[in-house]
Amino acid sequence: MAPHNALRNAYISHVRHTLRSMKQQIHFVTGKGGVGKSVVAAALALKFSRSGKKVLLVELGDQSFYEDFFTLSKVGFSPIQLRPNLALALWSGESCLREYARYLIKIESLTRLFFDNAVMRAFISVAPGLSELAILGKITSGLRNHGPPLPYDCIVIDTFATGHFKALLEAPKGMSQAVQFGPMGEQSRQIDRCIRDKQASHYHIVTLPEELPIKEAAELQADIKAEFNIDAELILNKILTVPVSGQVVKEIALDKKDNLNEFAIYLQYQIQRQIEMKETAQKITTDFKCIPLIFETDPWKLIEEMAGKI
Ligand SMILES: Nc1ncnc2c1ncn2[C@@H]1O[C@H](COP(=O)(O)OP(=O)(O)OP(=O)(O)O)[C@@H](O)[C@H]1O
Ligand SMILES: [Mg+2]
Repeated sequence: MAPHNALRNAYISHVRHTLRSMKQQIHFVTGKGGVGKSVVAAALALKFSRSGKKVLLVELGDQSFYEDFFTLSKVGFSPIQLRPNLALALWSGESCLREYARYLIKIESLTRLFFDNAVMRAFISVAPGLSELAILGKITSGLRNHGPPLPYDCIVIDTFATGHFKALLEAPKGMSQAVQFGPMGEQSRQIDRCIRDKQASHYHIVTLPEELPIKEAAELQADIKAEFNIDAELILNKILTVPVSGQVVKEIALDKKDNLNEFAIYLQYQIQRQIEMKETAQKITTDFKCIPLIFETDPWKLIEEMAGKI
């Protein structure tokens, strides 16, 4: 091997090692239904992967959004590679519990006996907080060094909408209060510590520049601050940007004979509303970002453009 190649490889391996040995980063992306959580999570994940981090993008639940969005063949519990440094997985409460049981019991047939049983399945689906705890257990397993390896520098989670997200965050504390002793209580406390750890856990609340979504985002921001003392980042998505000056829009809006007159009046109204909404966001936190409404139908181009704006 040429000396400069050996030096280059040694340098790359050193950088990789340094990145790995840093604390694993967890990024939770939430917000009201339909505001753009999934595309923003994918854009964040892409951005991190491009900075050299090994990233896992995770969606929660039983059904994959990205499978249709990126026209993928199958998205499941085991990560699939999307791009260099960027993998994707779909985790549900049941699949996380199943993997954990397999890890503990280590005998596949016994795990199946345990899970493929109507009573057990019914119990898992109704036991309060169990599904949420299993998901958070899996998400924080790398940080806690507990369970099957999760060899990523960064995990970006396209989580639930606001209400269910709050229930997700409350699950470990609730469980540790209900089951104070034994391994279940101890695991719950460890998971709870991870999601409160400012160095490791980051929260991104996506909202539209509209009154109700911003109000909901502000409430969640305040809840996270009160409970975890963490400042969640606010992301104002789908900001309409007009490629002509305000003066031009104003002139067209005043000119009743112009074909674009009504559209210009609408634009003026929208732009004014957005200014007000940005002011509202600024009052909630100084840590907020804006993402424009992107006119792009190709999913990867949309995500790439968005990654460049976050
Ligand atoms: N900044 C943007 N520019 C253009 N299109 C966007 C932008 N943000 C989101 N979209 C589009 O808006 C739609 C809704 O986005 P997305 O599915 O990410 O929302 P969501 O919050 O995850 O929804 P759900 O609550 O159903 O999971 C998608 O079609 C997405 O491509
Ligand atoms: Mg979504």
